[in-house]
Amino acid sequence: MAESSSALRINGPARLSGQVSVTGAKNSALKLMAASLLAPGKNTLLNVPDIKDVEIMADLLTRMGCTVAFDKAVHTLEIDVPQEPAHKAEYELVRKMRASINVLGPLLTRVGIAEISLPGGDAIGSRGLDFHIAGLEALGAKVTFEHGYIIASAPDGLVGATFELTFPSVGATENLMTAAVMAKGTTTLHNVAREPDIIDLGEYLIAMGAKIEGLGSSTLTIEGVDQLHAATHSTLPDRIVTGTWAFAAAMTQGDITIIGGRADHLEIPLDKLVAAGAVVTTTPDGFRVRMDQRPIAIDVATLPYPGFPTDLQPMAISLNSVATGSAIVTENVFEARFMFVNELRRLGAQITVDGHHAAITGVPLLSGAPVAATDIRAGAGLVLAALVADGVTIVEDAFHIERGYPNFAANLRALGADVTVI
Ligand code: UD1
Repeated sequence: MAESSSALRINGPARLSGQVSVTGAKNSALKLMAASLLAPGKNTLLNVPDIKDVEIMADLLTRMGCTVAFDKAVHTLEIDVPQEPAHKAEYELVRKMRASINVLGPLLTRVGIAEISLPGGDAIGSRGLDFHIAGLEALGAKVTFEHGYIIASAPDGLVGATFELTFPSVGATENLMTAAVMAKGTTTLHNVAREPDIIDLGEYLIAMGAKIEGLGSSTLTIEGVDQLHAATHSTLPDRIVTGTWAFAAAMTQGDITIIGGRADHLEIPLDKLVAAGAVVTTTPDGFRVRMDQRPIAIDVATLPYPGFPTDLQPMAISLNSVATGSAIVTENVFEARFMFVNELRRLGAQITVDGHHAAITGVPLLSGAPVAATDIRAGAGLVLAALVADGVTIVEDAFHIERGYPNFAANLRALGADVTVI
């Protein structure tokens, strides 16, 4: 990471224009790294983003006996996995990053036991693990909680089963897929998540020799195999970082070409930006978002993929804060994801929250003030708001943003913003 920040200083307003490149998705790369535990030998992941969470996952895998080498210049990560990985993930690392829970499925199916500290991660709701546990129990695992750890065991191996998720949880789908690939017999998972990250993980598992059908649909059929072999896979581009740049272009009445961005992974968010008045055009290697007017307010309701992503909800609220008219943003995925609204109000945004609805009335320009990031996406949403605020905004606790946005400040500067890392 080029610059390490405790705060970002943004002198607004700004109009962003130019080109920005998007690298691999955080939420995919972390899961691919965890899934590597399934295959002994040298696994290679390409297009891995240079972000803090990748370092944390690399630390976790190293503690489990893997040898991890990250060539940041070419975004390539090699993970040499031992025959007998250690099965414990300690609090010290897990508390820093919730995606640590993704080692549960691979460890359970490969070594028959996993002890994982209960995760921390972003402050965006209760984020239970009940679906993960019910699914693993359906596959024959025994799960207990002791001293802050989840202890899951399957001494005689997991056995394929049919299981329906109550809600299409991304993390639970991933843990169940990675457990089922080496269970005995067939597993059928209903109501699974359909995020592109799930397809990415499934393709990596297939490259390792797994038998999976139905990727991208709401039912997965997985035929267990005895063992998997090391593989090479390229991480898909980050659709949330891509979407953040698209919102930044629209909000600042700018013009950004997002190289490597996949418009087909963002159909609903981009439709919303078009409704707000933006012009979206595809280019040979990505797409371009241009806005020539103050945005028109847009109603948004977050839903599992292909719905509007909860991770872009802060960006939708920030855009509406400077739009003409009023809008309602409804959060359907995480119950406590409006915490950053108080920070946005400090910039002069007109927002009232009622349960999981936020009503926003746009103002022409926000007003710079000190604010604090509460999680990755809230932090990015605040930076976008600072770009449409008059004067200086200091975004404290900017380390959250670094967890998900490689070179954020440098990219903003290249697009014309006055941003310094403090
Ligand atoms: C992942 C993403 C996160 C994104 C979210 C939804 C990573 C590292 N994080 O989080 O950025 O916002 O998907 O797209 O990939 N739930 C339960 N019980 C469970 C599991 C989930 O009640 O066992 C609830 C959660 O509290 C939440 C909802 O289900 O309200 C969705 O959570 P889930 O899809 O599992 O999100 P994560 O995988 O944690």
